[in-house]
Parts: sequence; structure tokens; C-alpha cells
Amino acid sequence: MKKMFIAVMFAGSALLAADGASLYKSCAACHGAKAEKKALNKSQIIAGWSADNIVAALQGYKAGTYGGALKGTMKGQVARLSDDDMKVLAEYITTLK
Ligand code: HEC
Repeated sequence: MKKMFIAVMFAGSALLAADGASLYKSCAACHGAKAEKKALNKSQIIAGWSADNIVAALQGYKAGTYGGALKGTMKGQVARLSDDDMKVLAEYITTLK
């Protein structure tokens, strides 16, 4: 019984640590594995942005208050993200090199 409990605890923390990486998987197709690309050749390169800037942009897309010609593309991407998801994602993106 005790062993099983420890295994579950482990699985839980591994899941948390992987969160940013797994959330980012759906972004990598356009922004690049290291956030080094101009998505669809239009976005700014977000590698090197501060976490605050990234969260602000994501929240802006969700609210419809931020973005350029292709903001509709991003609105679809962020619709399902919670505030916490955005923070975790933003922190993860700042670690990409
Ligand atoms: C289908 C392609 C696509 C996917 C997938 C995608 N993006 Fe984007 N992203 C874009 C485009 C295009 C823009 C520029 C939109 C505009 O005109 O404002 C953009 C803009 C951004 C910006 C702001 C950069 C700027 O130019 O102002 C951030 C931050 C961002 N995306 C993060 C993400 C994150 C995080 C994800 C995953 C949840 C994601 N994107 C998924 C295409 C994509």
C-alpha cells in the first residue's frame, strides 16, 4: 500500500513539471520548438520575451484586445487556456534556448 502511494505522488509531481512542455506542444507547430520562428511568417519571435509580456499577449488574444492581422489564429489557440495555463506556458517559453 505504502509503495503505491509513493508511486502516485511521483506521477503527480512529474505531471506538474511537464505541464509547460506539454502545453507548448500545440504551439511549437507554428512558433517553433524553441519559439524561434515567426509563426505563419507573421508573428514576432517570442523567444526572449519576458513571461509578463507573453501572458499579456495571450490574455489580450483571449479578450480580443491584442494582436495584428492574424489575431484570430491566436484567439483559437488561447480560448481553452486558463490564467494558470498561460503563466506556466509563459514561464516555460522563457526557458527555451
Ligand atoms: C496556427 C499557428 C499558431 C499556433 C498553433 C500558435 N500560434 Fe501564437 N501566433 C500565431 C500568429 C500568426 C501570431 C501573430 C498573430 C497576430 O497577427 O497578432 C501569433 C502570436 C503569438 C504571440 C504574440 C507575438 C506577437 O507577434 O505579438 C504569442 C505570445 C503567441 N503567439 C504564443 C502562442 C502560444 C503560447 C501558443 C500555444 C498555446 C501559440 N502561440 C500557438 C500563430 C500560432
